[in-house]
Amino acid sequence: MRVAVISDIHANFIALKAVMDDIRAQGATKIFCLGDLVGYGPAPREVVDIAMLKFEFTLRGNHDEAVTFKLPKQFNPVAAKSIFWTRERLKPDPQSGSHSFRRWNFLCKKLKDVVQVDDFLFAHGTPKSFYEYVDGIKAAKKVFAILSPEITTLLVGHSHIPVVFLETEQGIRVLNYDTPKLPKLREHRMIINVGSVGQPRDGDPRACYVIIDDETNEFIYRRVEYDVEEVVRQIYAKAGLPKDNAHRLRGGY
Ligand SMILES: [Fe+2]
Repeated sequence: MRVAVISDIHANFIALKAVMDDIRAQGATKIFCLGDLVGYGPAPREVVDIAMLKFEFTLRGNHDEAVTFKLPKQFNPVAAKSIFWTRERLKPDPQSGSHSFRRWNFLCKKLKDVVQVDDFLFAHGTPKSFYEYVDGIKAAKKVFAILSPEITTLLVGHSHIPVVFLETEQGIRVLNYDTPKLPKLREHRMIINVGSVGQPRDGDPRACYVIIDDETNEFIYRRVEYDVEEVVRQIYAKAGLPKDNAHRLRGGY
């Protein structure tokens, strides 16, 4: 079975549509989403609607949590402003119809913290918290230590940086996502960061996601071009959204 693992869409519907076209072309039949459907981008309703209809499961990211529940202190002013704008777009009211209630209910109640499928574990940040990052060898070591022995592969998002951490007898190795020959799944225990669909931060503006194939044990990173300038225009057209959210898409930062 070929499964697409996507994360951090951040209300970028145009990037999501391009990624879904690519997923179809790659022959993946299921989509697992690791969270942060919303925040930053101009199309939260459209993205949540796709998640409700098309994704096998969606995890709760810190931005999904901030929109539906409480804004945590660590959000910077730009992220916080985006959250307030997004909350206004998503909060249900009788005038916007019953679908707005279903959408809000999905965001509040249907997102999961962690999902295990066979020997694969899926989390937004780490299995312990959607705020924590696996952002280096030290953090990866801590996370490997808490994984139960039957888990061979942990897939995460949150940092928006595609990278692989490999547990070897010599210690933990960090592999760039574009390493020419990535190891096979289950050869080592691995933490795979799938990157971000809607707001890449590794200097490459193309959307990023991963396909895993549990029969061949291959996993591949996909980079997908989308119409960044159209999303920039859409963000500029929304009075309550910070302009920084647009600029950073051009540079992928
Ligand atoms: Fe995110």
